[in-house]
Amino acid sequence: MKTSRYPFYFISIGLIALLLSLLCGLISGFQYIIPDFIKEILPFNAVRPLHTLFAVSWVILTATGGIYYYLEQKNQNHRLISIHFWLFIATGVGISISYLLRNFEGKEYLEFPSYFYFPIILGWILFGINYFKSLFSSFKNWPVYYWMWATGIVLMIYHFTEAHLWLLSYFRDHFVQNVAMQWKAGGSYVGSWNMLVYGTSIYVMAKTSGNDSYAKSGKAFFFYFLGLTNLMFGWAHHIYIVPTAPWLRYLAYGISMTEWIILFSIIYDWKKSLSQEKKIEYILAYRFTILADFWIFLNIILALLISIPSINLFTHGTHITVAHSMGTTIGINTLILLSSIAYILELNKSISLNSTKKIQTGIKIFNISFVFFWVCLLLMGVKKAHWIYFTEAISFGQFHESMHWFYILFVSFGLGIVIGLFYIIFELLKSIKKVL
Ligand code: HEM
Repeated sequence: MKTSRYPFYFISIGLIALLLSLLCGLISGFQYIIPDFIKEILPFNAVRPLHTLFAVSWVILTATGGIYYYLEQKNQNHRLISIHFWLFIATGVGISISYLLRNFEGKEYLEFPSYFYFPIILGWILFGINYFKSLFSSFKNWPVYYWMWATGIVLMIYHFTEAHLWLLSYFRDHFVQNVAMQWKAGGSYVGSWNMLVYGTSIYVMAKTSGNDSYAKSGKAFFFYFLGLTNLMFGWAHHIYIVPTAPWLRYLAYGISMTEWIILFSIIYDWKKSLSQEKKIEYILAYRFTILADFWIFLNIILALLISIPSINLFTHGTHITVAHSMGTTIGINTLILLSSIAYILELNKSISLNSTKKIQTGIKIFNISFVFFWVCLLLMGVKKAHWIYFTEAISFGQFHESMHWFYILFVSFGLGIVIGLFYIIFELLKSIKKVL
């Protein structure tokens, strides 16, 4: 069977996108401290969307590359995969140039000119065609990760389209409806890529343990159905301030919390049952997954708190929300994807002992810095909420000045994350080169 290099191309560009995201994150952090820092070339309003664009690209490209790799034995259409890859690369470059030229449109996370919708959706459709053609014959016996990936692809196409409905005047002209729909679409396409990422995590756990029963268990399917319901309703906790039906908010809140609790417990069961030999054979994949479990736990606590409407009122629009979104994209998505890359490379025996040691050092630097970074974001959020709601007669300028030391700490811990991840990324890229 002919194996394709494209899964590794997706993963390598994903890792490079992560590097770029880290650089842009660091620059935007510096701009908290020195607002004029390279403002002429890269102002905060351009560097922040670049940071999130590269972060989202990292998640999507790496998850996609992993899925293509995991389906290598399934008679895939390599031509479609290569077109998908080049379409995404060309679109990513185009969007980055638009941001650098400050040519913005759309809403948060999708600030690019709307014509980029077409190549992006085409890429997802090609992904879907290849996926279903490769797996359709075994449809009746699909383990849960195949269902999760299939659902992620189909619903991404649907919700990404929904996120662009505002282009039609019927939707644009109804303000409340439009705001609710924008958030719904946003929450749901994040749910769709989470399907790809969580499916990947279950795949890695099943394969490292050599036991596919995980992926066919009742608990795994319960997790899938909760994820699906969350994808459909979980957006409601984003729009507490929009007048929608209360039952929807409570349902959304309940479901999103239970989903994480189940994932936490699946990883916990896997950890308990994994033999010592497997833990050593897949040491890096194991370490990353265990760390992801720790971050799921911390994020459950934070999400439980900020989803309580009376607390959400104060935290909305502060760095506590950023702690939630960075806490989940770094702590859960990034760690799961790193574990997927490590698994692929450990399976191919292409990570040297030296690289494994360096990556382990990187993991330590990363995790310690990330804990402090996250706590710092929470404290910055508390300070801001206090300033907005409980302090009178302090101007924004004065408040900003009073935050100076927090900003310095935030950037210093951010630098720690960058150093730790740089170690990991370079060693992974070096090991990928050996496979190609
Ligand atoms: C894996 C690495 C990272 C990922 C996946 C990531 C992801 C994100 C996401 C999703 C947001 C949007 C938050 C929101 O809208 O609520 C964000 C914002 C931000 N990130 Fe990161 N981030 C990463 C690393 C970093 C690092 C190392 C820094 C360095 C200081 C940083 C600095 C920032 C800043 C300053 C913002 C803007 C916050 C604001 O709006 O004021 N990020 N990041």
